[in-house]
Amino acid sequence: MADLRNAFVCGHPISHSRSPLIHSYWLETHGIRGTYRAVDVPPDDFAAFVAKIADRGFVGGNVTIPHKEAALRAAAVHEPVAEMIGAANTLWLEDGRLHTTNTDAYGFAANLDERLPGWEVESTALVIGAGGASRAVLYALLERGFKTIHLANRTVARARELADRFGARVEPHQLEAMNELASEVGLVVNTSSLGMKGDGDVPLDVSQLKPDALVTDIVYVPLMTPLLQRAKDRGLRIADGLGMLLNQAAPGFEKWFGVRPVVSEKLRNLVIADMEKR
Ligand code: ATR
Repeated sequence: MADLRNAFVCGHPISHSRSPLIHSYWLETHGIRGTYRAVDVPPDDFAAFVAKIADRGFVGGNVTIPHKEAALRAAAVHEPVAEMIGAANTLWLEDGRLHTTNTDAYGFAANLDERLPGWEVESTALVIGAGGASRAVLYALLERGFKTIHLANRTVARARELADRFGARVEPHQLEAMNELASEVGLVVNTSSLGMKGDGDVPLDVSQLKPDALVTDIVYVPLMTPLLQRAKDRGLRIADGLGMLLNQAAPGFEKWFGVRPVVSEKLRNLVIADMEKR
């Protein structure tokens, strides 16, 4: 019988995480002897936690807020994508050393591949927000060949920092500039927390967008954010953010348990049902 393999998701707080639901579903459907559980690790305890991953019987795990930057520093081997994004969300032990990557950019792109096939033929994007999630989105858009990425943020200095980090294809703007830029772009991505849990709305006038523009939001609570609803009402093609969460989980599962899992509609519905409960 195969060895029992154990993985974790650590963060602080962690009780809201849907990752145990996702990975437990895959363990069960693939018939793998393994566990995946949430561990609450306060910031002061993170270094001690990662130093003892093997001693605790783990093969690796996910890392979420507030440990994503510390996870990058803690690992011996980084994939270039994690260095470029400046944060890591996936850890695994390989040849006795701690390796890390960031699967958020992959998850973002894979979600659009599923929900908005052909999205990458667009060449100009508007990205709203310049926090941690924005960096993963910028990485994915640049990798898929976007030529111009307008980056609008409330704190324009943060948008400028990301433009310096990612190069001349990223153009920083104030948040208010988005409505002047709207008619030029083929893809709109909200990475800000506006619209999350009924908190505010992205101040984008969707009537300014081209009729074939695509709109996506990485916020997935609620699934239909006010921005997505307004875009849909205008007849634009939209993609919600849940698929990014589901897809970013797949590469980690493969590292720890040796099988590439499928992001199915059944899994998506399971997570939606869980979101409706709590
Ligand atoms: P994450 O890692 O999820 O991206 P974050 O780093 O805290 O989270 O970034 C949150 C983003 O939402 C930032 O772009 C933030 O703008 P600032 O850089 O100006 O803080 C944006 N945001 C949050 N609340 C906002 C609000 N009320 N209006 C406009 N932007 C907001």
